[in-house]
Amino acid sequence: MSGTSGSPDAGTFLAVADLRAGYGAGRVLHGIGFDVAEGEICAILGTNGAGKTTLLRALCGMVRTEGSLRLAGTALPRRRPEAVARLGVAHVPEGRGTFAPLTVEENLRLGAYVRRDRAGVLDDIERVYGYFPVLKERRAQAAGSLSGGEQQMVAIGRALMSRPRLILLDEPSLGLAPLVTRELFQIVRTVNEKERTTVILVEQNAHLTLEFAHRAHVLETGRIVLSGTAGDIRSDEQIARSYLGIEVG
Ligand SMILES: Nc1ncnc2c1ncn2[C@@H]1O[C@H](COP(=O)(O)OP(=O)(O)OP(=O)(O)O)[C@@H](O)[C@H]1O
Ligand SMILES: [Mg+2]
Repeated sequence: MSGTSGSPDAGTFLAVADLRAGYGAGRVLHGIGFDVAEGEICAILGTNGAGKTTLLRALCGMVRTEGSLRLAGTALPRRRPEAVARLGVAHVPEGRGTFAPLTVEENLRLGAYVRRDRAGVLDDIERVYGYFPVLKERRAQAAGSLSGGEQQMVAIGRALMSRPRLILLDEPSLGLAPLVTRELFQIVRTVNEKERTTVILVEQNAHLTLEFAHRAHVLETGRIVLSGTAGDIRSDEQIARSYLGIEVG
C-alpha cells in the first residue's frame, strides 16, 4: 500500500511484529504488527482503553514486552527507557509531563539533558522557538501558567531538543480546542517535513488526525483491526463510520 499523496517513499524505519505487552499479569496488547517508513506520520487511532498509550510505552521501553521491535534494523532495548531515548526516540506522554514550576526555557533545556554540546543546545532552543514563536515570548514564564495548547508546545519542543529520529505523541489534542489542535498538528507536520522526523501520533480525534497523517492503524482492545493510508480510510465513509464513529467528507 504505497503511493499516498505526500507519503514518503522510504524503507521500513520502525518494524513492530507480534508485539504483546501488559502490566503485571494482565495483557493489554495481543500481538500487534505494523511498519513505519522513515519520515512518515503514522496515526494510531482508537477509543478509550484500546491500548494506545500502552503501545507507546512498549515502544519506549516502559512496559514489559514480547515480540519484536526494531528501529532502523536495530532491536530496541527492553525495559530501558534511557537506552531507547539515546537511540533517538522521544516520548511526549499523555498529560504532557512538563515541569510546571520551571520556566519554558528550563523545560526545553531538560529535553537536552543527554547532550553535551552547549552551542548545539542553544541553537536548538532557537530552532524550537522558530517552530513555536509564542514560547519565545513566554520563555521566562513558568510552564504551569501557560494555556493547555502552549503547554503541549513545550512538551513537543522539549522532545525536539533531543533531536529525535522518532517522536511519539500521546494524545496531544487532549483538552484543546479544535483550532488549537489544528495549529499544533500543522507545526508537527512542518517539523516532519523540514527535519524528516518520523512521527507516531496517538489520537482519539480521528477526523483531524487523518488530515495530517500519512498512514493510520485503528486499535481495538489491544489488536489492530484496520490499517491503511489516511487517504483511503478517510475516503471510505463506511469504514470511517463503523470503525471510527466519524462522519467524513
Ligand atoms: N499502569 C497500568 N497498570 C495496569 N493497567 C493499566 C495501566 N495503564 C493502563 N492499563 C490498562 O491497559 C488498558 C489500555 O490502557 P491504555 O492507557 O493503553 O489505553 P488508551 O488507548 O491509551 O486509552 P485512553 O484513550 O483512555 O488514553 C486499559 O484496560 C487500562 O486499564
Ligand atoms: Mg492513552
